[in-house]
Amino acid sequence: MSCSNSSTAAAHNAVKDYYGKVLSTTSDLKTSACSARSAPHPIVCRLIKSIPKAVNDKFYGCGNPIPLGIEGKDILDLGSGSGRDCYVAAALVGPNGSVTGVDMTDEQLQTARNNVDEFGKTLGYTPKLKFVTGYIEDLKTAGIPDNSADICISNCVVNLSPSKREVFSSVFNALRAGGEFHFSDMYADQTIPEALRQHQMLHGEGLSGALFTNEFERIVTEIGFLFPRILTITPVDVYDPQLKQLVGNIKYFSITYRLFKLNEQTRDNGKDTGYIATYLGTITGHEDKYVLDIDNTFERNVPVHVSGSTGRILKSSWLADFFNVEESSEEVTTEISSAAMLIKVNAFGCSASSCK
Ligand SMILES: C[S@@+](CC[C@H](N)C(=O)[O-])C[C@H]1O[C@@H](n2cnc3c(N)ncnc32)[C@H](O)[C@@H]1O
Repeated sequence: MSCSNSSTAAAHNAVKDYYGKVLSTTSDLKTSACSARSAPHPIVCRLIKSIPKAVNDKFYGCGNPIPLGIEGKDILDLGSGSGRDCYVAAALVGPNGSVTGVDMTDEQLQTARNNVDEFGKTLGYTPKLKFVTGYIEDLKTAGIPDNSADICISNCVVNLSPSKREVFSSVFNALRAGGEFHFSDMYADQTIPEALRQHQMLHGEGLSGALFTNEFERIVTEIGFLFPRILTITPVDVYDPQLKQLVGNIKYFSITYRLFKLNEQTRDNGKDTGYIATYLGTITGHEDKYVLDIDNTFERNVPVHVSGSTGRILKSSWLADFFNVEESSEEVTTEISSAAMLIKVNAFGCSASSCK
């Protein structure tokens, strides 16, 4: 993106200033929004501990957006910051996969780049891990070709963008068919009023740019993703009394979403009869069961009747390697949870711990 639009440039500069100059370490944050609440998988925790301290100290994520089972995959991290999630992903993809982080803030990119060699020594091979300068609204200009990523990840970043539709379109284009945008971000239970959107600290903390969940669902399905799957949803605490007063009755959530891009033919197959899906137990770290989302958990070797769209995901996305999927004549009309519904009935867990 050329940044020719002055309000977009101003929004970008305010965020660069916040993450490049105002914040120094994770402890400077004013909310739990940008410090991942629920514990990552033990494999991820172990890897986090092996990452250079300078990288970990500047982690500002609000979730755990790194799936397991990604060996050999090409991963793209939007708003990679100091690079923590990229380092973890680089270890998970191994020597045959690649990880590219995109960020616009020089200070963050410098920390990320400075520690790659040291991490290579820990891994015992040179990881295909690089950090590029660019805007997530226009990945192509940042040097990311269309159809080049198997999985895109992102941690507490999209809320900071002044042009969220462009971000989702850009990710859609960067993904290969069968790919997934697996990301954690801040969402709200209502549209954030204009007055709050201009507040710099609220914005930096992810509270004024959070999308209303319903609007998010509309935008991404219009772009061509399947209806968003929710992996985790946890309420966000605002610690600072002044910020707390400003946000009033708005409820915030950190949500890890899964957005699948299937090829057009598969996506538009309106078939509503279901499928029978069996998880093979072949993802390291998920040997006994696999949680696709809040509505769908699979025990190893246990056939499950699933809806048409769940069957199409398991048959035609990068997850196809781990499932056996057969057509079924039985109609399965499982509803897929919308975040708004979960918020209404408070049907989410809250495990407030990180790696011990
Ligand atoms: C909350 S921090 C999260 C960083 C990292 N994902 C982590 O978990 O530590 C947000 C990061 O996104 C970057 N960012 C925000 N908006 C961006 C944009 N439009 N294009 C590129 N990077 C952006 C910022 O520079 C910052 O490093």
